[in-house]
Parts: sequence; C-alpha cells; structure tokens
Amino acid sequence: MKITEKIKKPITKELKIFEKQFYSSVSSKVKLLDLILIYILNRKGKQIRPILVLLFAKMFSKGALNEKSYRAANLVELIHTASLIHDDIVDDSNIRRNFLTINALWKNKISVLVGDFFLSKALLLSTENKDYDLLNEVSTAVKEISEGELFQIQKSKNFNLSEEDYILLISKKTASLFSCCCKLGSISSGNKDLNEIEAFGNYLGIIFQIKDDLFDFTTKRIGKPTKSDLKSQKITLPLIFSIKQSTYQDKKAIKAILKKKKYTMADKKLVNEFIIKYKGFEYSRNKMLEYKNGAIKILKKFPDNESKESIKILLDYIIDRKY
Ligand code: FPP
Ligand code: MG
Repeated sequence: MKITEKIKKPITKELKIFEKQFYSSVSSKVKLLDLILIYILNRKGKQIRPILVLLFAKMFSKGALNEKSYRAANLVELIHTASLIHDDIVDDSNIRRNFLTINALWKNKISVLVGDFFLSKALLLSTENKDYDLLNEVSTAVKEISEGELFQIQKSKNFNLSEEDYILLISKKTASLFSCCCKLGSISSGNKDLNEIEAFGNYLGIIFQIKDDLFDFTTKRIGKPTKSDLKSQKITLPLIFSIKQSTYQDKKAIKAILKKKKYTMADKKLVNEFIIKYKGFEYSRNKMLEYKNGAIKILKKFPDNESKESIKILLDYIIDRKY
C-alpha cells in the first residue's frame, strides 16, 4: 500500500464526503469566475490540510464524524486555496501543481479577486453555521499567515537572517495553518484542550516548510518552479546554517552571488556546492527529525487509535515526500 493510502485509510469514506461537499460548494453565476473555479477544482493538491482536520477529528471522536468536522475540513481547504492564489501573485510564480497559475493565465487583478472569493466562501461557511469557535481559530491563522508573509518580505535580502527568525517566519506563514487544522478537527469532535494540539501542529508545519524550502534547491521536477527563493533573495535554513558556518572568504563569495539580480547555471551550482561543503542540507534534514521527535512526544499523549497511527505516518510522509 502506498504511504498516502495508508495515511488516508481511517478516513477514506470521510475524505470522499469532504471532496463532494467542497466541489459542490464552490461555484458562481459569474461566468468568468465559474470558469476559473472549474480550472482550480480540476487541479487538486495533496489535500494534507483537510486530511489533518479529519484525522484529528476522528482521533478524538467517539463515533462517526459530525457535520462540523466536514465544515472544518472545507474551511481550511478554502483558506489554503485562497492563500496559494495570493501567494503566486506575491511570488510572481507561473506554475503550481504542474499547471499554469491563475495569475499566469488571468493576470494579477483577476487573481486577487478570485483569492478574495475563496476567503469570503470560508467566512460565509463559518458564519452561516455559527461556527464562531472555528472562525476564531481560522481568523487567527490568516492573521499569522499575512504577518508571516510580510515578515518574509521584510527579511528578504538579509543574508544574515538568524535561524530563530527563520523558524518564527515559517511558524507564522505555514505552521499556523497546520496548527489550525489540528485544532479545528479536535474542536469539531468536542475536544477543547488545545495547547498540546497547537504545539503538535506547529512542529508539523515547521517540518513541512523546511522540506518545502529544501525543494527549492532540487533539480528534480516538483510541479512548481525551483530556485525561486534564491531569485527573490529569500534565505532559508540550508543557507542560513551554511553561511553561519562558513569562513570569511566563503561568506564574502556566497553573498556576492546571492546579491546578483540574475543567476546563471554556474551560480546555482556554486550555491549548492557551498551548502554541501558546510552541510546545510544535512543540518536541515536533522532539524526536521528533531521537530519530528518533539511531535511524536506530544502525540503519545493523545488517544491510541488508527487515526493516531495515520498521523504518525503523515509525519514521515511530510519529511520524505517527493513534491
Ligand atoms: C507558500 O509559501 C504560501 C504560504 C505559506 C502562504 C501565502 C499567504 C499569503 C500570500 C497571504 C494571503 C492569505 C490568505 C488566507 C488570503 P511559499 O511561497 O514558500 O511556497 P510555494 O513554493 O508553495 O509557493
Ligand atoms: Mg510561493
């Protein structure tokens, strides 16, 4: 059995119900918008966030999942979709999930509004069902995500970014939504004891983003552009660590490359060699394993069942995934 199938096993039926609800909830009478919505819905992602909601809901539920758990899964997928549409505008990115982005096809003006549409659908889904507890968590996550994105812009071009600031940045821009998924699933099953759940989601999200940042250095095809962090002068963990370790001469040389407006193939090769020399990739991988151990420790406190086993497998998948 594939690792993704193992993860989904306790929620196979529930995931199908979620998908049906999600696909039927997003449509519009405005033809232009409806066309774009169909384009988006036909290019589904890994669905890690709704899977996380459903697994946490199931881990804490006594029996079958309730409607609120499905709404929670929908809510995070709507927010996640909105954030990716806006992110591709911010990053001026042309490819996602192996296809052209909304901004590449319909330009920025339309893309901003489509992102807003997804955001409004999320707000309506919670207010129409009086899910104010879910809305509170989601609003906090969106605030964190936006602050994280702005913090990232503030820190770009800073080649001395500290590891501490990097972790804070990815906690905000990525891990906040992962935490939110775990909390939403738990709340929907009646569990209000959220501190450890939030900490678990934070670890999971940090691991996810470290892995995502490692992908930026790969030469393999991952369904979206690579080297985009380098181009926009965003410094991530492999470089942060390597720069810190490097000699004065190497530091000077690498910063001269990083400051360039345009990178050649030779420059990219030099950056990779620099990171290999100072073991930045190894360090990043070990950091993911450290966070995984932290996450496993928390997971031990949760009820033992099939969903918890899947969450454990999900941790490995996030570290070992190929895209
Ligand atoms: C991916 O980061 C993007 C995010 C983690 C969040 C982006 C959020 C915004 C632009 C704010 C708008 C938010 C809402 C909810 C409307 P990345 O660029 O490092 O990853 P990538 O390689 O997948 O693009
Ligand atoms: Mg991006």
